[in-house]
Amino acid sequence: MGVATLITGGAGGIGLATARRLLAAGREVVVADVLDPPADLAARHVRCDLSDLDASLPALRDALAGGVGGIVNAAGIVERTRFGDHTPAEWERIYAVNARAPLFLIQGLADLLSPGAAIVNVASMEATDVVASDGRTTTIYASTKAALKNMTETLAAELGPRGVRVNGVAPGLILTRLMDPIAPETREWFRLLTPLDRFGEPEDVADVICFLLSDAARFVTGVTVAVDGGMSLGLVRRTS
Ligand SMILES: NC(=O)c1ccc[n+]([C@@H]2O[C@H](COP(=O)([O-])OP(=O)(O)OC[C@H]3O[C@@H](n4cnc5c(N)ncnc54)[C@H](O)[C@@H]3O)[C@@H](O)[C@H]2O)c1
Repeated sequence: MGVATLITGGAGGIGLATARRLLAAGREVVVADVLDPPADLAARHVRCDLSDLDASLPALRDALAGGVGGIVNAAGIVERTRFGDHTPAEWERIYAVNARAPLFLIQGLADLLSPGAAIVNVASMEATDVVASDGRTTTIYASTKAALKNMTETLAAELGPRGVRVNGVAPGLILTRLMDPIAPETREWFRLLTPLDRFGEPEDVADVICFLLSDAARFVTGVTVAVDGGMSLGLVRRTS
């Protein structure tokens, strides 16, 4: 068992695409996900619920005993809720996965991080831009992503002196399971706001994550890179 990169949420979407890219580059990968990854994925898998890190961390530490070269915090959940329907339980659920787990996972694995290790947190353009859809809001989700972006900055400052870099990506609309609940007409409206005129593929984000993990980004820390086809530019299209 050698030094490995941990990918949370590696069973699907952006995390899975990142896992495939890293495996193709010869890196050892450990996936942490509540779901099973596809059977052909040549990565070790720790089936766990990251919202309960007390239960999950021991198995993750065992799987990563050879050392941690990188952590990709890609696990995330979203709930679209009408303003009046938000509840404290929804808050706890979403924060547990999207914001609490990344911080305490990094803390819980800190002693296993190898020199030159890199961390990438998957935030969202919603950390900084308001995205409203179908009359429902993602107020809680968006605030978890803002928290994660902020943590990326403070953790970069804290871990930099140990030679550990911490960066993030802020995806726009990427074609994964998370997009399934968005109605076709709403999707079309989002596409019109995107200068590159298409939705993202998981690989579009995975390539930037791999860059941030790599030695090519050795002097880059504390930044969250937009991977959104330009959607966060705030384009207003004329229709005539
Ligand atoms: N798809 C988009 O448009 C988009 C946009 C911005 C940000 N993001 C972020 O990208 C990340 C990846 O999402 P995705 O789009 O690939 O969706 P996805 O649903 O395909 O992947 C998320 C993965 O996280 C796992 N997961 C969820 N809760 C978990 C838990 N408690 N414990 C362990 N694993 C858990 C899921 O099983 C899933 O495999 C998320 O953090 C999401 O917020 C996605």
